[in-house]
Amino acid sequence: MGIGIKILGTGTYFPKKILNNKDLEKIVDTSDEWIISRTGIKERRISSKSELTSDLAYEASKKAIKSAKLTNEQIDLIIVTTITPDMPFPATACLLQRKLGIKSIPAFDISASCSGFIYGLATAKAFIESGLYKTVLLVSSEELSKITDWDDRSTCILFGDGAGAMVLTASYKTNDCLSIFLGSDGIYSELLFLPGGGTAFPTSKNTVSQNLHKIKMQGNKIFKHAISKMVFAAKKALMLASKKKDDIRFFIPHQANIRIIESVAKKIGVSINNFFINITKTGNTSSASVITALDEAIKNGTVKNGDLVELIAFGSGLTWGAAVLRI
Ligand code: UT7
Repeated sequence: MGIGIKILGTGTYFPKKILNNKDLEKIVDTSDEWIISRTGIKERRISSKSELTSDLAYEASKKAIKSAKLTNEQIDLIIVTTITPDMPFPATACLLQRKLGIKSIPAFDISASCSGFIYGLATAKAFIESGLYKTVLLVSSEELSKITDWDDRSTCILFGDGAGAMVLTASYKTNDCLSIFLGSDGIYSELLFLPGGGTAFPTSKNTVSQNLHKIKMQGNKIFKHAISKMVFAAKKALMLASKKKDDIRFFIPHQANIRIIESVAKKIGVSINNFFINITKTGNTSSASVITALDEAIKNGTVKNGDLVELIAFGSGLTWGAAVLRI
């Protein structure tokens, strides 16, 4: 066989501060009962003012590198996926590289919203298989709380902060990445977006007063696309891996809404018990969602060595993707 992918380790970091639904009742006109029944979320983690996306990425990276039993110097490519970078440029990956003290190796960001981790995985896989780089640190880190409109009850109840990381390396003996499928459709870009701060609406007093630097979402429409695209991606990645749904020990879906996850499970024809769900305590952490859920499933023994898992994600763009991995 040619060059395969070996997953060496994973790690997660969540900020300390917990914001629960009761806290949100004091901020907007909502209730703990509404949030739980409509989303499945009970609490989410919120970063402090001085805690940056690159700081969460750094903490998750340290854990992933430790679990991979490597030193920082053995990493030769850093990829960060985020829609909440520390700043528009330089890339958060470069800021992470500085914190890790790794010199000269390439580092760059990927912006693919909640599908970011799977896009990052595909990129890491391509770099490794081409022989260009051997050992990749892939980190998904998000601070949605910093771009959330805390006056908008239909969005502020959903999001949370967190980071997850994975270390992957080249292998001539095994291949832990059986398939990846990606898709996107820019026609629906305005269903979920942050309009301000780019070339469309450069930052000005007007963009600030019009609240253009916060998340805008048409939740209902996004909800329907999320289900159909996640089901489509999940089936495609299974087919590309020549596997059946029953071969998968656990499905690790993007944690956007418990009702989306339940509907995806039903449409794929899999028991919800085979879907790993941690949205209750994390909320939607965008690209960090799938990798932090996978790390938790590995660390708490839900997923064991040798198990097949399928990651399934969907996000703004629209973007979607799925991957079949052997843990
Ligand atoms: O990360 C990937 C992308 N994101 C997603 O996948 C999110 C997808 N969307 C969703 O999760 C859901 O659409 C939401 C949770 C955002 C909203 O749930 P919904 O069941 O689609 O509610 P809705 O927007 O249809 O609103 C139903 C009612 C409305 O009241 P009226 O007009 O029926 O009187 C809303 O004003 O619920 C009201 N509402 C709330 N009530 C209490 C909306 N947000 C809240 C709230 N608390 N936080």
